[in-house]
Amino acid sequence: MNASPPLDGAVHIAGAGIAVDAIAKSYGSAFMAVDGVSLTVHPGEFVSILGPSGSGKTTLLMMIAGFERPTSGRLVIGGKDMTDTRPEKRNLGMVFQRYALFPHMSVADNIAYPLKRRGVPRAEVRRRVDDALKLVSLDAYGSRMPASLSGGQQQRVAVARALVFQPPVMLMDEPLSALDKKLRDQMQLEIARLHRTVGVTIVYVTHDQEEALSLSDRVVVMNQGRIEQIGTPDELYDAPASPFVADFIGRTSFVSARCLAVDAQGARVRIGDKVDILMPSARCRGVDADQDVRLALRPEAVRLADGDEAQLSGILEGARFVGSSELAFVRLPGGELLQVQTDPGTSRHLPAGSRVGVALDATRATAFPERS
Ligand SMILES: Nc1ncnc2c1ncn2[C@@H]1O[C@H](COP(=O)(O)OP(=O)(O)OP(=O)(O)O)[C@@H](O)[C@H]1O
Ligand SMILES: [Mg+2]
Repeated sequence: MNASPPLDGAVHIAGAGIAVDAIAKSYGSAFMAVDGVSLTVHPGEFVSILGPSGSGKTTLLMMIAGFERPTSGRLVIGGKDMTDTRPEKRNLGMVFQRYALFPHMSVADNIAYPLKRRGVPRAEVRRRVDDALKLVSLDAYGSRMPASLSGGQQQRVAVARALVFQPPVMLMDEPLSALDKKLRDQMQLEIARLHRTVGVTIVYVTHDQEEALSLSDRVVVMNQGRIEQIGTPDELYDAPASPFVADFIGRTSFVSARCLAVDAQGARVRIGDKVDILMPSARCRGVDADQDVRLALRPEAVRLADGDEAQLSGILEGARFVGSSELAFVRLPGGELLQVQTDPGTSRHLPAGSRVGVALDATRATAFPERS
């Protein structure tokens, strides 16, 4: 990995691919923390693992790192089977949520530690530590002690320490969750920049969807130890594969409906007892005729509408400002609450309790078969 000398004092790494093949981890006899996960990460890719608390994200990462032994399945990193390889022999960089820097060592000594352990000569250690400090914009901080740094600075030292020995893969488990929002935003930019300039493969665990969507090439959505969907941020948002993903990523309203007919073009779906919408096939996979469905609707696929344009009507329960637009909450007669994106100044001034019409963009809705 260290064959090519860094250019312009920057760290360059040949990222390695990772193949996770049907990996499982059980604790006790019945409970599966990770339940048969398969996943390919390409060299140099930034992949996030996103999911609710307890969905198995850390367990999966710990198996890639080698700190947890899979109950079954194989793991290949950089073309080598590493399922039974000890963690220190995997040569992976790691940054965790509350990263413990060595408190009695200066920043520079912390970063030098993995190099010294690997027997790197002193002059080279000094040069690489300087490069790593530059990389995380802490050039002047080498002699400081960790306790005298802010949380974000400490986290940057942790990142520098994880990158300094030029690992082909960096594993990060909620590295920013201890930081406040502003610092988190700033560190996200920093991590994205590092990934672009350094070329290391990153597997990044988070339960913050914004973080996953903004940083990653692809996102793995986990639920109860399994993968619900793997996709680019766009794919997850526009074409969620399950109600879980639709609900977990972005804002979604669900409306019960019934599929009346399916043909090559798509499906005719009836909402209530008289509104029919025609949905393209890609938006209603696995849906059959004469079947109850759940429609998932993003706020931008729904608008307030008057007169003939209105397909549904409901009671406005309130509206709120959400940055560049407004979000109106409309209760349908069936009890479902619809989130409707409106232009600024259009829904917030309407009195709560008023009846409003709503129109749907059927091409942007997604239908899922209702589980019986
Ligand atoms: N050593 C262990 N012994 C028993 N159960 C465990 C152990 N480690 C994890 N678990 C269980 O496995 C499941 C997955 O845990 P894991 O830590 O991977 O979740 P996570 O997705 O990282 O959650 P969080 O977002 O809260 O960090 C949880 O139900 C957890 O309680
Ligand atoms: Mg975790």
